[in-house]
Amino acid sequence: MSIQAKVVTVGLGYIGLPTSALIANSGIKVHGVDISQHVVDTINAGKIHIVEPELDKVVAEAVSRGFLKAATKPVGADTYLVVVPTPFKGDHQPDISYVQAATDGIIPLLKEGDLYIIESTSPVGTTEKMMELIFTKRPELKDKIYLAYCPERVLPGNVMYELVHNDRVIGGVNEGSTQKALAFYSQFVKGELHPTNARTAEMCKLTENSSRDVQIAFANELSLICDKAGINVWDLVRLANKHPRVNILQPGCGVGGHCIAVDPYFITADFPMESRIIAQARSTNNYKPFWCAEKVKTARLEFELKHGRQPSIAIMGLAFKPNIDDLRESPAIHIAERVLQDSGDAAMYIVEPNVHEHKIFKLTDYKEAIEKADIIVFLVAHNEFKTLDISTDKTVLDFCGVTIKK
Ligand SMILES: NC(=O)c1ccc[n+]([C@@H]2O[C@H](COP(=O)([O-])OP(=O)(O)OC[C@H]3O[C@@H](n4cnc5c(N)ncnc54)[C@H](O)[C@@H]3O)[C@@H](O)[C@H]2O)c1
Repeated sequence: MSIQAKVVTVGLGYIGLPTSALIANSGIKVHGVDISQHVVDTINAGKIHIVEPELDKVVAEAVSRGFLKAATKPVGADTYLVVVPTPFKGDHQPDISYVQAATDGIIPLLKEGDLYIIESTSPVGTTEKMMELIFTKRPELKDKIYLAYCPERVLPGNVMYELVHNDRVIGGVNEGSTQKALAFYSQFVKGELHPTNARTAEMCKLTENSSRDVQIAFANELSLICDKAGINVWDLVRLANKHPRVNILQPGCGVGGHCIAVDPYFITADFPMESRIIAQARSTNNYKPFWCAEKVKTARLEFELKHGRQPSIAIMGLAFKPNIDDLRESPAIHIAERVLQDSGDAAMYIVEPNVHEHKIFKLTDYKEAIEKADIIVFLVAHNEFKTLDISTDKTVLDFCGVTIKK
């Protein structure tokens, strides 16, 4: 079915697909673009390739009504949204090559009056760089198109609600662009829309995630101190939070995902002298998985000394946070890899209830793993793990507080 698209979205992943479906279901025709043929075919069949509550229904509706169509190439439209990945390169330098590739694909299609928006998390100045790229190739469009940056701040697992209800920060390269982008988002966002300029909007996204990273690093640092001091960190945090102006986050096995573990580097790469706390938080959170793996090693050696045999070990959870299937940058994966390397012939049961299969790990059902393992290592506080009945003869290492009765 061919549609006259009003909006082209480039990148149909965790953010691009829900956004495309939401816009489509508000009655605007959307042409979604992805370089993956599998992604395109799945969406055009009215199905989804990622786990996100409610998304399947919203995509099926958008496709069946003819308001969302996916393809590997963009078409001409009025508004273009860039929602491609922005990872970092080996040395923690931001990699904006995907944004550039997506923009390159759009440039020949742009016409006077069009709106170009980057939603991908980006280093400060990226929108201006893309503007220069566009005007170098299409100088006749200078001052004739609108360019803006609008970061996404949804929580995986609650994306369909938050896309509509979260406040958004929208920054154009000039006032006209900001206003044009505000008008666009006001068609489907119910949260408040906050106008600013492109650089502030870019920095705002990086600041939000760096702030989370610093707060988690504080909790993780406390967990290391408490372990040495013989204090239960979960009790400590609960009690400290009884102070009316203290709100410490929960420690975990590290920080993962596509955002919090990545975005602070977009600041430290460009402002190395000024971003000391942000850099230290990254390093504290990166250290935590190594520390957890060492703790598992110690527990394994103690078991061997006591029982004269190797223990079997259950690794509970691989995702970067509870109740999702997203394994990107997950500290639990690093811990599982290290424990596997260390554990020789010992039986290992690796559990991730939200994933059916994994290319490296053989996955085990969580109940079977709990039953068979001598040492149970909780890395992710998935709901399935909250009500388990664990026999008292097992060694339990809980790095995510899932066994703590609140
Ligand atoms: N996932 C989140 O929770 C979240 C939250 C806020 C912001 N973000 C940001 O949003 C952006 C997208 O993240 P995501 O999680 O949706 O990524 P993703 O990896 O889930 O999806 C990106 C999609 O873009 C496609 N792609 C890559 N290059 C392309 C190109 N040149 N043309 C067309 N398609 C291309 C990929 O095949 C993939 O399907 C990133 O900058 C990320 O930091 C993500």
